[in-house]
Amino acid sequence: MTEDAALPATVTLPTARNHPFDPPAELMRLRGERPMHPMAFPDGHQGWLVTDYTLIRSVLADPRFSARQELRHVPFEHALGKTQPPPAEPGSFIRMDAPEHTRYRSELTAQFTVRRMRALEPRIIEIVESHAESMRASGPPADLVSSFALPIPSLVICELLGVPYDRRAVFQGATRDLLLLDTTPQDFAAAFASIEGFLTELITAKRADPTDDILGGLISDTEFTDQELRNIALVLLVAGHETTANMLGLGAMALLSNPDQLALLRADPTLIDGAVEELLRYLSIIQFGTMRAALEDVELGGETVTAGQTLILSIPAANRDPERFDDPERLDVTRSSTRHLSFGHGIHQCLGQQLARVEMRVGFGTLLREFPDLRFAVEPHEVPLRTDMAIYGVHSLPVTW
Ligand code: HEM
Repeated sequence: MTEDAALPATVTLPTARNHPFDPPAELMRLRGERPMHPMAFPDGHQGWLVTDYTLIRSVLADPRFSARQELRHVPFEHALGKTQPPPAEPGSFIRMDAPEHTRYRSELTAQFTVRRMRALEPRIIEIVESHAESMRASGPPADLVSSFALPIPSLVICELLGVPYDRRAVFQGATRDLLLLDTTPQDFAAAFASIEGFLTELITAKRADPTDDILGGLISDTEFTDQELRNIALVLLVAGHETTANMLGLGAMALLSNPDQLALLRADPTLIDGAVEELLRYLSIIQFGTMRAALEDVELGGETVTAGQTLILSIPAANRDPERFDDPERLDVTRSSTRHLSFGHGIHQCLGQQLARVEMRVGFGTLLREFPDLRFAVEPHEVPLRTDMAIYGVHSLPVTW
């Protein structure tokens, strides 16, 4: 046997889906083979693709693996993936490690108060109900994404940050361009500049005239600079907007495609909390984005990860791991305690998860109540899927009632 033949087979990241709700079949096959595979990156780097639930959870909780973007290799052959990213700017805490990350996270946690979240809930109900009403008034049919799934989280994040809603188009367009997998460096820079200018203006206005929202709170309670505030706001906008929007859109499609589960939920609305968790698990909309870089050599799953290697942590694979979930391919709104990884784990675990849960509970609950005979307005296979985006979902969802 040659030395090469003894080396483990190297894979590339599987991306092709055969079914709208299932992760790529090749990914599932790889997970069945072994918990982590050596993976070839487009820039020639060799890292790892991790598909096992327990391993992913342990990496996310282990400080020997870094979230710093300048240490990671990008798994895609797209324009932005060709050059190594620079270190995160001050305030971009999602791409930092402790203790730098801790400083931002604790100030943010202090702003996500129970009081503020409670106060937001009636506003969320109001926002959701008024969108359901205008969708009804303008249809049938309607595009559930543009009339419901997208504007609701946009409005909620505007309320949270104190962004005037009539300025939402600026960040809706820009966050979309920032998340496109094949954005050119020019489009990325333009999107970044437009949102940066917008946020600078907003922070200047709030410094002059303090407001009772998260950005206002950060301005009055911390020493953060304008640049830090701008980047914190950007993290919240990007992290909180398209994620929830796509859970609402793809979640509605998954329910319409599973009439037995939809009937259960309609018959017993108290199932909604569990249904939201199950949709988060089943759909795993963050299809590629979770990555870490090893800061030192680490023994993991019987392999040696060497310092400097990038790990792609496949949340979709983990959330369908049969070692962890019974009958993982099945959407089951009555499933008990799934402990999915859709909000991540460890120090970067989603800061907005409670808010996202309220938006989804109210969003799905209202849709089912207000549209008792909601159905597809096109053949399900005609719904355009976001296979081209880091956050998976549907570009539009034509519905009728
Ligand atoms: C972090 C998912 C909604 C704000 C994360 C992470 C995941 C995630 C997987 C961890 C990333 C990592 O470890 O690399 C989701 C999903 C959502 C959602 C699936 C909707 C269904 C929201 C909302 C907000 C938000 C509504 C804000 C209002 C954040 C922030 C972080 C984060 C700030 C970074 C936390 C940190 O680095 O300490 N989210 N998220 N997310 N999320 Fe969410």
